[in-house]
Amino acid sequence: MSADGLVLVTGGSRGIGAATATLLADRGERVVIVDIAPEPLAGTATILWPAPFDVASEGGVMAGIADIEAAHGPITALVNAAGVFGKMHSLERVRMEQWDREVNIDLRGTFLVARSAGIRMAKRRHGAIVNVASVAGMTSGPIHAYTAAKAGVIQLTQTLAAEWGRSGVRVNAVSPGFTRTAALEAGIASGALEKERLARPAAMNRLVEPMEVAQAIAFLLSPQASGITGINLPVDAGFLAGSSWEAYGGLPQPPAS
Ligand SMILES: NC(=O)c1ccc[n+]([C@@H]2O[C@H](COP(=O)([O-])OP(=O)(O)OC[C@H]3O[C@@H](n4cnc5c(N)ncnc54)[C@H](O)[C@@H]3O)[C@@H](O)[C@H]2O)c1
Repeated sequence: MSADGLVLVTGGSRGIGAATATLLADRGERVVIVDIAPEPLAGTATILWPAPFDVASEGGVMAGIADIEAAHGPITALVNAAGVFGKMHSLERVRMEQWDREVNIDLRGTFLVARSAGIRMAKRRHGAIVNVASVAGMTSGPIHAYTAAKAGVIQLTQTLAAEWGRSGVRVNAVSPGFTRTAALEAGIASGALEKERLARPAAMNRLVEPMEVAQAIAFLLSPQASGITGINLPVDAGFLAGSSWEAYGGLPQPPAS
């Protein structure tokens, strides 16, 4: 990122995208946010792209990226944070419309925006992309399309890193654990998820904050990460490290102080 750079954040009106856009704008970056349900981020210097932007629409993404560059200049950094959660179902009850929706937005959408912006960055020999995957793409769960889509995002990240490595474009992913966004809070409020059950497997026994994911994304976009491409960085409060301890009787409590 540089003074004359432009960061594009998809899904920027809410959750992890909003936290990332806010952090980067607070650090002096020029940040444009796009969303299928666009809403400005009050109290920030982020620039809202007012037209609805659907990451799953090939024509919409190609036209949208061209229009954004025409209006605001070359995109130098991209954060693919738009996404939808997986619906929890038993295998027999997975509806294929739901499957297609999750794969279309979470995987196809990530590809479409990365391709559109990345080709332009590669021609200019400069750019950085961070895709928001999930620990769900590194483990398993009763969210069949979502886990597959997120594993696809992690794989796609490596492929695009190799594709554009010689063109000066870095591509990395972050994999958040359960993160306290409005989307997750809604899942808790509906009774589909339970806060303590989500936190317990994590080594740190808590949810991740959206700003913690934003900090990792900002690092991967920054010159401090100039030698890093093709990686997937979990930001999960130790969810991956702690999950298997249940089989051995659970994680230890801290010693009395
Ligand atoms: N919150 C978590 O626990 C968690 C954990 C791991 C990964 N993630 C991933 O992080 C990303 C952001 O999740 P979040 O929790 O911030 O959710 P969120 O619902 O708070 O934010 C997602 C944003 O994406 C937008 N969006 C949805 N479909 C879109 C589309 N087709 N085109 C453009 N924008 C669209 C929504 O309007 C919303 O503003 C998602 O990819 C999600 O899978 C979240």
